[in-house]
Amino acid sequence: MNKEEAKARIEKLKGSINQYRYDYHVLNKSTIPDAALDSLKHELTKLEGQFPELITADSPSQRVAGEPLQQFNKVEHKTRMLSLNDMFSKGETGEWIARISKLIPGKKWNYLVEPKLDGLAVSLIYENGQFVLGSTRGDGRVGEDVTQNLRTIDAIPLSLNLEQISSSTSATNAVVEITRGSKNNHIDSGSNVRNDNEKDGNRPFANTRDVRLKGRIEIRGEVVISRKNFAKINKEQENKGLPIYANPRNLAAGSIRQLDPKLAASRKLDFVAYQVIDDGTIKTHQEEHRLITEWGFKSLETKLCKTLDEIEQFLVHIHSVRDGLVYQTDGAVITVNEKELWGPLGIVGKAPRYSVAYKFAAEEVTTKVLDIEVQVGRTGALTPVAIMEPVLVAGSTVSRATLHNEDEIMRKDVRIGDTIILRKAGDVIPEVVSVLIELRSGKEKQFVMPNTCPLCESKIIRSKGEAVSRCSNKGCYGQEKETIIHFVSRLAMDIDGAGEAVIEQLMENGLIRDVTDLYFVKFDELKSLERFAEKSAQNLIEAIVKSKSVVLNRFIYGLGIRHVGEVTAYSLARFISEKIKQNEYGVKELWHAMHLISLEDWQNIDDVGGVVGQSIFEYVHSKHTQELMDKFAKAKIVIKAPAVRTNLPLQGNTLVLTGELKSITREDAEMRIRELGGKASGSVSAKTNYVIVGENPGSKAKKAQELGIKIINEAEAFKLLDIK
Ligand code: IVH
Repeated sequence: MNKEEAKARIEKLKGSINQYRYDYHVLNKSTIPDAALDSLKHELTKLEGQFPELITADSPSQRVAGEPLQQFNKVEHKTRMLSLNDMFSKGETGEWIARISKLIPGKKWNYLVEPKLDGLAVSLIYENGQFVLGSTRGDGRVGEDVTQNLRTIDAIPLSLNLEQISSSTSATNAVVEITRGSKNNHIDSGSNVRNDNEKDGNRPFANTRDVRLKGRIEIRGEVVISRKNFAKINKEQENKGLPIYANPRNLAAGSIRQLDPKLAASRKLDFVAYQVIDDGTIKTHQEEHRLITEWGFKSLETKLCKTLDEIEQFLVHIHSVRDGLVYQTDGAVITVNEKELWGPLGIVGKAPRYSVAYKFAAEEVTTKVLDIEVQVGRTGALTPVAIMEPVLVAGSTVSRATLHNEDEIMRKDVRIGDTIILRKAGDVIPEVVSVLIELRSGKEKQFVMPNTCPLCESKIIRSKGEAVSRCSNKGCYGQEKETIIHFVSRLAMDIDGAGEAVIEQLMENGLIRDVTDLYFVKFDELKSLERFAEKSAQNLIEAIVKSKSVVLNRFIYGLGIRHVGEVTAYSLARFISEKIKQNEYGVKELWHAMHLISLEDWQNIDDVGGVVGQSIFEYVHSKHTQELMDKFAKAKIVIKAPAVRTNLPLQGNTLVLTGELKSITREDAEMRIRELGGKASGSVSAKTNYVIVGENPGSKAKKAQELGIKIINEAEAFKLLDIK
């Protein structure tokens, strides 16, 4: 294919991929199988690899690009990002309407009501239709430049040039009801979206470039995450022994306000637009919503209302469907629809008079604290938990609520015997809101963090500057119990029939103290236990024996190393396997190989980094781990090399570039390496597989020679990278 042909093909591919993106995210329709879409994307990156000069910033291949940033730049908002005053009742809303009516006498107007999403507000700047800058709200005047992270969100179009998008769809097709959870088995996308009651007929979809897109345009909206993905990520956090996110807003903020775009990309974030900042040509807020969909964004279901009663009706509707929505909604936004009135109504402090937030009251109930227990986690962290009289809140009965740590208990002044107000944070996690101090009898007892672990009586340590207290004993019963439960879990050793109750029973009867003891439990011992019969004992033994042959990533994940989740475990397993170069081996060989890996090498593995690498290194070199490994070896555990998850040609290879390449830029070459599954690194080490040497190479070539690493020239590199 020559360059002209490639150019035409690339344009076609980009157009189609963007159309499918639009269908999926805006119309909530899956119009192409995932694998076929992947194949189009693959063809695009391949062509772009051959003709790097044809890569444009808005190419779908450019979503996750670039290295982690050092820091965020500041961005000044040309139009201030405001917050909204909260209303909590129909009465208050009525008062607001009365207030603004006085300010604009003789005018007539409508209200546009829309759901208020719980996420992170961001501003997106498009110049001539191209996404150029994305920022957080910050203090409303100055935010942070988070463009790189926002680009990873598929629901954010990189280009608003809709020329290629098919005109067969119409704006009315883009109307998706808020009430629908999903359509076409399309699990997470859409569906909090648009059910406009504006009658604009079968207006054809914008198939010519909208003049309004010329120059600079600003779109504002909310970075959100579906409830399903929110729950999934919290589960992963828990598995990694990391803190869970209290609500979707914290998670969205945590993913966007961090420096590594790869992390943002892994979070499956979504974006819903709700505002266009323009120079005054757009006359109504409703029109903004309509344009938003036309330009390729997901927007919200809105309703145009004339009276307080109509507003109230729609609020009731949103409230009644909110539990079934894809995204979490914490209320509604009510806005004067006619934008010409916004100026006259003005802004007070940080909030406009023309728009308010109606907040649904989080369901709150009262109950009594019966006790405060201390729970010991897998990492030894002690968490105080309020044990309460069971109470129904937001749909489920709750009897325990985490109090997080000592400081939190002090701050809220929760005492045993107190009557408290309880709600579900982010509608999921039970949270103590406050204490009803006036109901105290004087018999309430203050909580004291124990000096010794409630399970093993070892000393409790709270390091300076840390809120968390920890048990100092690595072999603590509580830690061990959680560690064993994790070890046998489905994604780890997958030992059927070893639930929490069974593990507790085995521990209490002295049959096991740590994970390795499982492999020495005998059938007769099990059978003699209460609740065990011949059959169940037999089944458990068989499941344990079966788990003796295990894939390395499962084994590593099962060890419960702090910060090492399932994905990291896989990366570690791949790395270690490349050192061992055998399909099956024992724990001794594994241990030997892991001991030889330096701290730096651990930290350089994909998905690892500084803190995690340190944690792995410490784990490998601890005496306790050494003892465990000896016992695993005795149990004759057989480790199998992990299966390759994708079969990209450079998977598992690290390449380093040095010197000047003649026909390709360094960035393009590095991108190509990543596309083929390899890693492009800046420095030569023992784990480098290839060093590509251009003209005037630096010291890296010399180092590669010393280390005996394969050195290739530009022509050879092109062959390897499949560049013609
Ligand atoms: S309109 C004119 N619409 O709520 C003011 N805000 O307290 C522009 N939010 O910072 C905001 N959903 O983060 C608007 N449908 C929606 C919203 C929404 C969520 C958030 C947004 C804003 C905050 C206002």
